[in-house]
Amino acid sequence: MVDISSNFVGIKSPNPFWLASAPPTDKQYNVERGFEAGWGGAVWKTIGNPIVNVSSRYSSIDFGSKRMVGINNIELISDRPIEVNLKEIKSVKKHWPDRAVVASLMVESKKEAWHDIVKRTMDAGADGIELNFGCPHGMSERGMGSAVGQVPEYVCQIAEWVVEVSEIPVIVKLTPNISDITYPALAAKRAGAHAVSLINTINSITGVDLDSFVPRPIVGNASSHGGYCGPAVKPIALNMVASIASHPDMKDLPISGIGGISTWRDAVEFMLLGASNVQVCTAVMNYGFRIVEDMIDGLKNWMEQKGFKKLDDFIGLSVGKVKNWGDLDLNYKVVANINQDKCIKCGLCYIACEDASHQAISYFKDKYTKKYEIIEKECVGCNLCQMVCPIQDCITMEQRNIGAPYMNWAMYQEQNK
Ligand SMILES: Cc1cc2nc3c(=O)[nH]c(=O)nc-3n(C[C@H](O)[C@H](O)[C@H](O)COP(=O)(O)O)c2cc1C
Repeated sequence: MVDISSNFVGIKSPNPFWLASAPPTDKQYNVERGFEAGWGGAVWKTIGNPIVNVSSRYSSIDFGSKRMVGINNIELISDRPIEVNLKEIKSVKKHWPDRAVVASLMVESKKEAWHDIVKRTMDAGADGIELNFGCPHGMSERGMGSAVGQVPEYVCQIAEWVVEVSEIPVIVKLTPNISDITYPALAAKRAGAHAVSLINTINSITGVDLDSFVPRPIVGNASSHGGYCGPAVKPIALNMVASIASHPDMKDLPISGIGGISTWRDAVEFMLLGASNVQVCTAVMNYGFRIVEDMIDGLKNWMEQKGFKKLDDFIGLSVGKVKNWGDLDLNYKVVANINQDKCIKCGLCYIACEDASHQAISYFKDKYTKKYEIIEKECVGCNLCQMVCPIQDCITMEQRNIGAPYMNWAMYQEQNK
């Protein structure tokens, strides 16, 4: 039996899967159905002075037959009054005491405004507060969201205002629209925030309508840049999570991982790289609340297989495995191998290696046969042929012992002086 219960900076939930602040959490009706489906917690759609939204609001990137690989939105924070949202939070918390309910907040950058909303949020019984310093569109033009998150001094200042009155944990949600994510994360830590969550959405334009010439999403005869999220952003989010988790001054700063998580595997990857729990938005917008069932089962099965009894047994296990390039072993060698029984002779590996790599695949053809084979002495082990191959396990990368010990870049330079 494995225990997947989570305790994130004192906020308890039966599992580490939270709904991220977004349309699936914008009202009691949604959050309660999310909890019925099994979600461990929810970060309420950002609350602040109500806004007016445009129509339309979303656009997406499809790739091949795959829909919504990434989605872009120009939606703002909640368009419902603060008091309605807080009343509903109180009611949800009353009915679902074992689930985490975190209020995401965004108000103008004035101390009184922040003090006021934090106190009202505590009165509503929320388990924690998430500061939305991330929205890259609309709110940022009004001096909020990523306009705050992009300036570490502002992050620190506003987080300090919140921390000085808050009696519940404060999580700072970071914007990825910045050159080095560790700067705002350090600022949040300096302010006394209990944790960071990341990532919010990435500034983007998904495409242009070739008939009207208007970028998407179309609002009349114009559009605006928006926030990008979904599976396409996962690699960016993973790297940012790892950067914070491995930073020597932030080893003890808890992280809530967000960005492109659709499956239990994605969630485990975030946790291995240092996130203590995860939040999900796009996957729920695409497939509904029900996906959490598979996430719970998958996580439990994987933990059982690996012999982990609780989440802390594996959180952060991959952090130390992300090294600077210069520390990698220059004497580690892999080469590709094509399993001839599985090969369907499509030639994709050959074309890729011929045109974009090291001409390390030979092609033989006669009247009766076609054959692709690796020329081992030319293969640099780049993985490209394996990546383009449409057949699972047809091309595998095999390690070759070249009989030389570990050598990093500094050692190499020394040796070749
Ligand atoms: C339509 C939409 C609305 C969103 N609204 C908010 C919001 O109000 N507050 C917030 O902090 N993040 C908001 N987000 C960002 C998500 O919480 C999340 O950080 C982001 O989508 C990355 O996660 P994902 O890849 O699972 O979608 C929104 C995202 C979408 C798609």
